[in-house]
Amino acid sequence: MILGDGFADRAASVATPGGTGAIRQALELIRMANPQAKVWMSSPTWPNHPSIVKYLGMPMAEYRYFDAATRGIDLAGLMVDLEGVAEGDAVLLHGCCHNPTGANLSQPEWDQVIALLAAKGAVPFVDLAYQGFGDGLEADAAATRKIAAAFPEVLIAASCSKNFGIYRERTGVLIALTSPDRRAVVQGNLAYLNRQNYSFPPDHGARLVTMILEDEALRADWKAELEEVRLNMLSLRRQLAEELRRATNSDRFDFVASHRGMFSRLGLSEAQVETLRTKHGIYMVSDSRINIAGLNAQTVPVLAAAIASVI
Ligand SMILES: Cc1ncc(COP(=O)(O)O)c(C=O)c1O
Repeated sequence: MILGDGFADRAASVATPGGTGAIRQALELIRMANPQAKVWMSSPTWPNHPSIVKYLGMPMAEYRYFDAATRGIDLAGLMVDLEGVAEGDAVLLHGCCHNPTGANLSQPEWDQVIALLAAKGAVPFVDLAYQGFGDGLEADAAATRKIAAAFPEVLIAASCSKNFGIYRERTGVLIALTSPDRRAVVQGNLAYLNRQNYSFPPDHGARLVTMILEDEALRADWKAELEEVRLNMLSLRRQLAEELRRATNSDRFDFVASHRGMFSRLGLSEAQVETLRTKHGIYMVSDSRINIAGLNAQTVPVLAAAIASVI
């Protein structure tokens, strides 16, 4: 589902407790292999990324990612910052549906980033937590597959929490791509790390996912449901962008329609977020990140009117 065909002889993998477990195990593998490796992450990123890296005492660095003015990608800043990557450093990349911003690299932008990181000898570390929530199951894996083909060593931490709707089962997978002759050693190291931390990951969610993916009828049902979820989020995005265009008489929030995934950072100030809370009873994270999936066709106009009244 993640890599498509052609990587089986290079892939070592273990089930993990959620995507978070995969991230933690990947970081431990990096630290075990190369304690000097720096972990690079986007600014901003999912707060658990820096938190776990810090907890593990690993060196870390940030690269620019989000342009607060356009709510798009700061590609120039990103490329300048990633020039600082040293050989063997791990670079954490959101495979699709960037959390918290909702802003994602286009395929040509991915190509530029991949070329730079390949020239630097970096180890890409892909976090794929929302496959199927952006442009579709296959499209959302496109960048990950490009990376897999372009680098000798890649780490992929994937979550089944959202796309299979089994958040509390804690179901994820860590895939470590390497050369075919090293695969068995890497597999052994992953098994070793699992054993040190919890012996075995929980099995129930992983069995559910396996059952669905290996049964043609169940797989088709699941894909159809996932697509329905994705299209619903897209239509809410379009509706919100349109309502905001009308309510604010500007194109300031058009980016909401081009963002992908569950989240968008709206670019409101903390004071505006506070006013939405106290005056309108509308709650969002203080950096103005909203969860698109928390809206519906009836609440979108209410939110748009409230935002227009505070800006
Ligand atoms: C970017 C990102 N990575 C990883 C995860 C972890 O997923 P899981 O709930 O499967 O641990 C999340 C979940 O919120 C996420 O947003």
